[in-house]
Amino acid sequence: MEIRNVAVLGCGLMGSGIAQVSATAGFEVTVLEVEQKFLDKGFAGIEKSLAKFAEKGNLKEAPQTIRARLKGTTRKQDLADSDMVIEAIVENVAEKRQMFSALDPIVKHKAILASNTSSISITELLSATKRPERMIGMHFFNPVPLMKLVEVIKTIATAPEVYENAYEFAEKLGKVPVRTSDKTGFVVNRLLVPYLLDAIRAYEEGVGSIPDIDNAMKLGCGYPMGPFTLLDFVGLDTTYYITQVMYDEFKERRFASPPLLKRLVMAGWYGRKTGKGFYDYSDPNNPVPGQF
Ligand code: 3HC
Repeated sequence: MEIRNVAVLGCGLMGSGIAQVSATAGFEVTVLEVEQKFLDKGFAGIEKSLAKFAEKGNLKEAPQTIRARLKGTTRKQDLADSDMVIEAIVENVAEKRQMFSALDPIVKHKAILASNTSSISITELLSATKRPERMIGMHFFNPVPLMKLVEVIKTIATAPEVYENAYEFAEKLGKVPVRTSDKTGFVVNRLLVPYLLDAIRAYEEGVGSIPDIDNAMKLGCGYPMGPFTLLDFVGLDTTYYITQVMYDEFKERRFASPPLLKRLVMAGWYGRKTGKGFYDYSDPNNPVPGQF
């Protein structure tokens, strides 16, 4: 099946990134949001990012040409003609199920339905539609325009041709897809989450300060960011939510939230997006580490 029209559900950090890379790759993209103001914010971010790529000579077309392939809407009916639907709304099973269920009678039958969830089981979403064989997971990484990886996730119901179509679509976006099955956390979060949580435990146990642990992993292992910088970047609320889903699934301590993570989330300190997390971003160019 040829994919031409892409629908992206949600214009937050992940949705806007997915929309941007899809339009950059030449697809016609429609982004669905609940309110126009969220579209405006997401599209402003896309324009900024495209301008950066253009400045570096990393775009094959003018940013305006790419931007012209992006449309925003608040009406589900506008997605009827989509070939590929990628959901990137809030990490909440009930809301995702409701969204897929509402779109099922609207979007054409041949369309592929993908979720960008990082931890929710794709299988749990299947019964929200009448086409479980056309559902898959496509897990992108933040920041989507820069990160090369897409985890392509198959369930026991996914039709082989749907899976291959989605895999090829990820390649057309200029990404490197990896094949994985619908096991909670897939590949990356299965390995990344225990590492991030262990960094918090190490701090709680007095192994080192926040900047020392960050520098140790950055300079000692060649990671682009230390664990606390990455936690603030991903979002502590997001990470906390993932730990709950993973702990619920595996009942293993390595996936359980350390008390400090829970405290920061309860305080509303979600990391970069709220200006405060393990670091204080009052001056974004000079984050100040917290002492807890
Ligand atoms: N669009 C265009 N350009 C961008 C951009 C964007 N969205 N974001 C950053 N850039 C540019 C910057 O402006 C900068 O340009 P410059 O060199 O001209 O100044 C360049 O990219 C490099 O950025 P930075 O200097 O800010 O920093 P880095 O060199 O460290 O690169 C990074 C940034 C790619 C984010 C790198 O730090 C990195 O790889 N970090 C790890 C990210 C990661 O692990 N992500 C996965 C998180 S897990 C996840 O998403 C899964 C979920 O389920 C939890």
